[in-house]
Amino acid sequence: MYRTHTCGELRIEKKGETVTLAGWVQTVRKFGSITFVDLRDRYGITQLLFSESLNGLLDANPLGREFVLQATGKVNERSNKNPNIPTGAIEILVSEFKVLNKSAVPPFTIQDDTDGGDDLRMKYRYLDLRRNAVKRNLELRYAVNRSARNYLHENSFMDIETPFLIKSTPEGARDFVVPSRMNGGQFYALPQSPQTFKQLLMVSGYDRYYQIVKCFRDEDLRADRQPEFTQIDCEMAFVEQEDILQMFEGLIKRIFKDVKNIDYTDVVKRITWEEAMWNYGNDKPDIRFGLEIANLKFPKHAFPTREAAIPNPNKVGAAEHIALESEFAVFNEAETVLAIAIPGCSEYTRKQTDELVEWVKRPQIGMKGLVFIKCNADGTFKSSVDKFYSEEKLKAIAEATNAKAGDLILILAGAEERTRKATSDLRMEMATRLGLRKNDEYKLLWVLDFPLFEYAEEDNRWVARHHPFTSPKPDHIEVMINNNPLIEDAAKYLEHPYSNIKANAYDMVLNGNEIGGGSIRIFQRELQEKMFAALGMTEEEANHKFGFLLGAFEYGAPPHGGLAFGFDRLCAILGGSESIRDFIAFPKNNSGRDVMLDAPSSIDDKQLTELQIKLDVRL
Ligand code: AMO
Repeated sequence: MYRTHTCGELRIEKKGETVTLAGWVQTVRKFGSITFVDLRDRYGITQLLFSESLNGLLDANPLGREFVLQATGKVNERSNKNPNIPTGAIEILVSEFKVLNKSAVPPFTIQDDTDGGDDLRMKYRYLDLRRNAVKRNLELRYAVNRSARNYLHENSFMDIETPFLIKSTPEGARDFVVPSRMNGGQFYALPQSPQTFKQLLMVSGYDRYYQIVKCFRDEDLRADRQPEFTQIDCEMAFVEQEDILQMFEGLIKRIFKDVKNIDYTDVVKRITWEEAMWNYGNDKPDIRFGLEIANLKFPKHAFPTREAAIPNPNKVGAAEHIALESEFAVFNEAETVLAIAIPGCSEYTRKQTDELVEWVKRPQIGMKGLVFIKCNADGTFKSSVDKFYSEEKLKAIAEATNAKAGDLILILAGAEERTRKATSDLRMEMATRLGLRKNDEYKLLWVLDFPLFEYAEEDNRWVARHHPFTSPKPDHIEVMINNNPLIEDAAKYLEHPYSNIKANAYDMVLNGNEIGGGSIRIFQRELQEKMFAALGMTEEEANHKFGFLLGAFEYGAPPHGGLAFGFDRLCAILGGSESIRDFIAFPKNNSGRDVMLDAPSSIDDKQLTELQIKLDVRL
């Protein structure tokens, strides 16, 4: 037997017992004739005391950091207790020990605050994983996994595995492909998600499916994206959107309870995609704080159904008038003018406002400038555009922006998309500066009614905003069927009826992150065929790519829908981190490389020959 206890287990009650521990040497401290060793394993750290009688042996077999050590001895009460660790009241008076394995000097210190840089830690990830901070993240990930499985099991969901070697049907991200030796010249693709399989399972009658499953997407990476990542993937038959929203709100609330001991009793807020875009400039708004965006001037074509989406048309309408009325060319020439009232910041100094102007001019934000209006406590206004606006007009803008005395109004103007994104970024930046994005506060949000289509400029055609299996809203089906998808004038794509079609698609957003998304699916062959046609696929192409699904829809497909959560993202947010890599045991770096394995790598000629692949190396 290698050990009787773990290094995190022993307490003062065990005083006098003889125990054997095994673990890694964290530190060695020699004090004259005695030596203290901190021994670490997954469960904690226990202090070992080597007394004079063993010191000679230790001198002959010196212990180094990360040596694997087995030690036997009596549990002793420490004279100098350490209240910071659970085993801090005891130590082991070692009577016998054995070095089970030596260790080279690790390239960085294996502690919470390590001196290892990112690349080094990734190269030696197996050492990095010994660190408490990383271990805690993996423990949290496992807790989320267990909680999700329990909830889904209790709700009759069945975990069914689906294949990884599938057919390439890129739509959205690029596929990772795998050459087939047995079928020369042909390739499998790794699934971007099990989407079509879970739909087939609905056709097969497994009316509640789930899988915690790897997905593979060859796309540009960011802190919240990995080329291989994990989804909690779910599908249900005989459901409407409302059933799905309820079921999966329940799942997330259960995870909050099990993992964070948080009773999330608030009603989960729901907004439409258009409201999200209008009020937050973003389809995954952080609603832990207000700072809503006011639309001071409408772009001609953005969001064609804007009237329906504007929360307070009268107020915004008044401001639009004012913004248009001045001699201020920047506003007059801009496609859109957006404003945010920042509470309590009217006393910003010149230096502070200058710094904000510089902030919006950074290439990542890309604006030419920033207009500000200070709403002084005495009811007067001071702005960077005093030349163009009377006090009365500034007051009207302040009203339209919902600003109060003491607020600072920030205004951005320019081309629609960029300005909206910049304002959204500015909103987040100001919230961070004002401490409004609290790590221990969680706000869930459903964003509903996403557009069914998105315009792809490169190909001058429509692509599915979510995926091609998503159903249009029932009263938008006719618009899809009765209109030719052809876009005659690319500049006027927003006038095409397709840009107005909304889907039964929804995203769940947590603190400004899209943690999950899904939709009610098309389940009739005819409608699915029309959808493929709308996306510019010929009948032949549609059959080649998705014939299996169209075929299945002929054999009694039930109405169905589902969603998938980004498991890594969810863990990162619950763990208070920006980066999902911290929650993945062996992640890739930002170039998609595994620096530990040094992958991807070339393969030898023999393998290439077997696969009948010839490289065209133009590098
Ligand atoms: P979608 O593409 O929206 O939907 O993905 C679902 C969720 O997965 C997470 N996610 C990612 N996480 C890490 N790295 C990535 N590269 C990455 N891409 C996506 C996000 C996202 O919300 N089959 C559909 C689901 C459905 O319709 O049921 C799908 O895959 O958190």
